[in-house]
Amino acid sequence: MTLLEVRGLSVHYGAVQAVHEVDFTVEEGAVVSLLGANGAGKTSTIKAICGAAPYRGSIRFRGRSLPQNAARVRAAGVGHVPEGRHVFGGLTVADNLRLGGWGKRRDRSSEIYQLFPRLAERRRQLAGTLSGGEQQMLAIGRALMGEPDLLLLDEPTLGLAPVLCDEIFDRIRDVSAMGSTLVLVQQHTSRALALADYVLVMRGGRVIARGIPDDFADEEALSAAYLGDEMPHGGLNNLEKT
Ligand SMILES: Nc1ncnc2c1ncn2[C@@H]1O[C@H](COP(=O)(O)OP(=O)(O)O)[C@@H](O)[C@H]1O
Ligand SMILES: [Mg+2]
Repeated sequence: MTLLEVRGLSVHYGAVQAVHEVDFTVEEGAVVSLLGANGAGKTSTIKAICGAAPYRGSIRFRGRSLPQNAARVRAAGVGHVPEGRHVFGGLTVADNLRLGGWGKRRDRSSEIYQLFPRLAERRRQLAGTLSGGEQQMLAIGRALMGEPDLLLLDEPTLGLAPVLCDEIFDRIRDVSAMGSTLVLVQQHTSRALALADYVLVMRGGRVIARGIPDDFADEEALSAAYLGDEMPHGGLNNLEKT
């Protein structure tokens, strides 16, 4: 069953067009990795779905048009872990989670603490005093508190040490195994490919390649699609692989 259907999506910031007529669908239970270099339009695409950026085109969730309003999109069952985390630094871990579960009858915090034991140890600590990796865990936990049917994760390992990236990816894999549908935005490719059921590659605001991860197993094929003509041969090898 198709959970999310994006058709002819365009996002403008004044005169700048960040997303050009993007089409894709997300099947229920799938992990879709949205790849692309910095500036490709990934965040703008995610923000449009979340109701956080005005857009043209159609975004349907379970066959219904999503409102262009972040609170109502969340209420419809779409969770968002924004780029740069944005936890409430002046609130405790527990209060951040509580806010994520606002309006929900069920309290999932014990499940979240099981998923991220580090958060359980720090539940009374102010979120602003957590490490970057812990803040990322909290941002994911907070989004999961809303019991989303679809979770959009925007570069969840950006700026984290490799060992923490591994941990975050393992937990994302756990969340997927629990049955969640995920859209995972990443600049770096190898882990995102390993997790994905389907891959979209954006460049210059357009989806320039799509397929199953096997289609991108040949690194040069991905490199060519990913970087286009902007990089010399072996471009992908020059990227930090996370
Ligand atoms: N608030 C904004 N105002 C103007 N231009 C923006 C804004 N946000 C993003 N852009 C531009 O839109 C393009 C796509 O950005 P973004 O969606 O953040 O890409 P990505 O997440 O793939 O790095 C870039 O050229 C960026 O400079
Ligand atoms: Mg981005």
